[in-house]
Amino acid sequence: MLVSAKEMLDKAKAGHYAVGQYNINNLEWTKSILLAVQELNAPAILGVSEGAGKYMTGFDTVVAMVKAMDKSLGITVPIALHLDHGTYEGCKKCVEAGFTSIMFDGSSYDIDENVEKTKELVKLAHDNGLSIEAEVGSIGGEEDGVIGAGETADPDECKMIADLGVDMLAAGIGNIHGAYPPDWQGLNFDVLAAIQAKTGTMPLVLHGGSGIPDEMVRKAIDLGVSKVNVNTECQTAFAAATREYIEAGKDKEGKGFDPRKLLAPGAAAITQVTKDKATLFGSVGKA
Ligand code: 13P
Repeated sequence: MLVSAKEMLDKAKAGHYAVGQYNINNLEWTKSILLAVQELNAPAILGVSEGAGKYMTGFDTVVAMVKAMDKSLGITVPIALHLDHGTYEGCKKCVEAGFTSIMFDGSSYDIDENVEKTKELVKLAHDNGLSIEAEVGSIGGEEDGVIGAGETADPDECKMIADLGVDMLAAGIGNIHGAYPPDWQGLNFDVLAAIQAKTGTMPLVLHGGSGIPDEMVRKAIDLGVSKVNVNTECQTAFAAATREYIEAGKDKEGKGFDPRKLLAPGAAAITQVTKDKATLFGSVGKA
């Protein structure tokens, strides 16, 4: 069931658990994630970066595929189709294409311009029934060409953006997209607690969910995080399972080269990562 992310996140905030955002790249990704969360009766958010949208030939294709698959698989759990790290123009295109949620990443603008553009997009999203995420401070590392310096968010700026009526707020607290370096200092829980104190019931978003130790994720959820984004771990699990299949020579046995066979271990690995994360985030049975 495709819905805006607002209700599922407000429920998560009140219930002290988090909803997973799992980024998609193609049909296999989407199917693997939908099957996992349906089996666990967990709400979920399908994240689409602008690069992944382009790869799938455009936002219209993404909407058509997700809507059709939601129906054909008989998905009854709430699913939000969400633009990840959207530009101002990308957000407008996704509203038009039929996404149910958008993220405007205005973190590269100065705070005044971030506020101005976020305010405009909040109105556009809400007028069309979508939920909207904004970002303060930047998430370190690189995701699909979006590069962040990794500045820690200023709690006062978080409050300013939260007051614009966004439905969820991403705040940089030392989190990084992609792999964490061995000398990573960990999440900054003092800043997270300060942001939580200023923003009250606002669902907070933890980007860069791949590779954060489980205890840190649990602590972040205890401190007010209601949405955790996962991308890289599904990609590395898919790659490892596919590598194992090919290195075992299975693509050369009988019709093992058939894409439905070749891609099956990777797809199963994505389903497993999704299930493990939904369990860690506490969203199992919360649909
Ligand atoms: P990871 O790739 O580190 O899991 O981050 C995902 C993310 O934050 C998407 O916005």
